[in-house]
Amino acid sequence: MAPEIKYTKADVDLAVSAAKAAFHRNSEWRLLDASARGRLLNKFADLVQRDTKYLTELESYNNGMVVNLGLYFSETNVKSIRYLASLADKIQGDTVPLDGDNFTFTLKQPVGVCGLILPWNFPILMFINKVVTALAAGCTVVVKPAEQTPLTALALAALLKEAGVPAGVVNVVNGYGPGAGTALTHHPDVAKISFTGSVEVGKLIQQAAGKVNLKRVTLELGGKSPLIIMNDADLNVAVPTAAFGVFSHQGQMCVAASRLYVQSGIYDKFVEKAVEFAKNRKVGNPADTTVDQGPQIDSEMLEKVLGYIEKGKKDGAKLLTGGKRIGKSGFYVEPTVFADVKDDMTIAKEEIFGPVQSILKFDTLEEVIDRANNTSYGLAAGIFTTNINNALQYAKHVEAGNVWVNGYGMTGQQSPFGGYKDSGVGREGGLNCVDPYLEVKAIAISLPKKF
Ligand code: NAI
Ligand code: MG
Repeated sequence: MAPEIKYTKADVDLAVSAAKAAFHRNSEWRLLDASARGRLLNKFADLVQRDTKYLTELESYNNGMVVNLGLYFSETNVKSIRYLASLADKIQGDTVPLDGDNFTFTLKQPVGVCGLILPWNFPILMFINKVVTALAAGCTVVVKPAEQTPLTALALAALLKEAGVPAGVVNVVNGYGPGAGTALTHHPDVAKISFTGSVEVGKLIQQAAGKVNLKRVTLELGGKSPLIIMNDADLNVAVPTAAFGVFSHQGQMCVAASRLYVQSGIYDKFVEKAVEFAKNRKVGNPADTTVDQGPQIDSEMLEKVLGYIEKGKKDGAKLLTGGKRIGKSGFYVEPTVFADVKDDMTIAKEEIFGPVQSILKFDTLEEVIDRANNTSYGLAAGIFTTNINNALQYAKHVEAGNVWVNGYGMTGQQSPFGGYKDSGVGREGGLNCVDPYLEVKAIAISLPKKF
């Protein structure tokens, strides 16, 4: 076995000092004009496209993502890079009607060295989302991938170098949270942290952000997202979509539709179809293109998911299919469906991050909106109904950063993404996604009264 290598504070210090040097006002990166920055990022998109097959396979080795899902994301990843690249030369300030004889304007400037801490569930997507946004804004970065998934961040960093991004602008330090992650969050020369991961660590990061200097913080954390199925829903669409919403990527999605509220008039029929759908999902080697579901990320998450399933059974939820580990090697879990779940059961309250569908019954929209909001999370929410008023009432009153109607998971780099309440701070994506990586400077020039 290879010796364990722990990259820690000393490595982070080196990376931050390289990023700081690359951010110097006279550096090659800072002197590059904004359109050229955009062109470099578009070159990066070309290279990511060129290496689609390699990156998809590497991501599958990295975290067990099924190849079909990887291929889907490789297409959207390239689009994301191009979208972000297009923002590089559209960072504009305002002119301001300040009192008196002044000419006042704002200048938007990159915030500085950014520490980007990535999760293991979507390593390529998250790298692109955070790194390319920071680069479009003109920042320099130190990236810390999750310890479970060190590979694709290195491959992408090599492609950024090949695209011509100057040395020191992008630095990757693979390491553990305590050690490499904490060194980054406590570093005085890091101006901003962007983090995706657990609420627990999100809170630590926000605390750390105020300890040494005052870091700007963007947090994208977990969820316990409610999906509502009304009596008038089209079950042919709602059943597979609800399953996709919770089983895709082994359930390791921050937006997982992990509280599925089904209205009483269709409850029994829905449950029956949902069980049938889950039973037909093919679990196995993620490299097999006919497979729907691969393994959980590691033994820790396997145990955590199985523990939640046991808790569900003990609390009295009705286990209708699944519930067990498959085989002895690889961390495979059967697609699992619980019905008759109650709001106060652990599986209805805590993020499971596994292929576990929890179905709850409700009678009225009024009632279910309150129940949907009775959580500290607020990332995503969905509803299936053909009644426009019900859809809009729900969309207006549910406390979540993303709401999906008659579908689930429709998002992309063009659209803001993030959470209410403990699901996060700030938004990623959308036209304004570079703003959290910028400072706004107001410059006022006093004009003589007469000339
Ligand atoms: P985590 O929040 O511990 O890890 C995410 C990232 O944070 C990793 O890069 C890790 O090395 C880093 N990290 C950990 N402790 C840190 C610290 N003190 N300072 C700085 N960085 C630190 O998540 P973990 O343990 O992998 O998963 C736990 C749960 O979090 C999952 O069961 C799931 O519920 C949730 N999660 C949510 C994700 C999302 O997409 N929002 C992604 C991954 C996990
Ligand atoms: Mg952790």
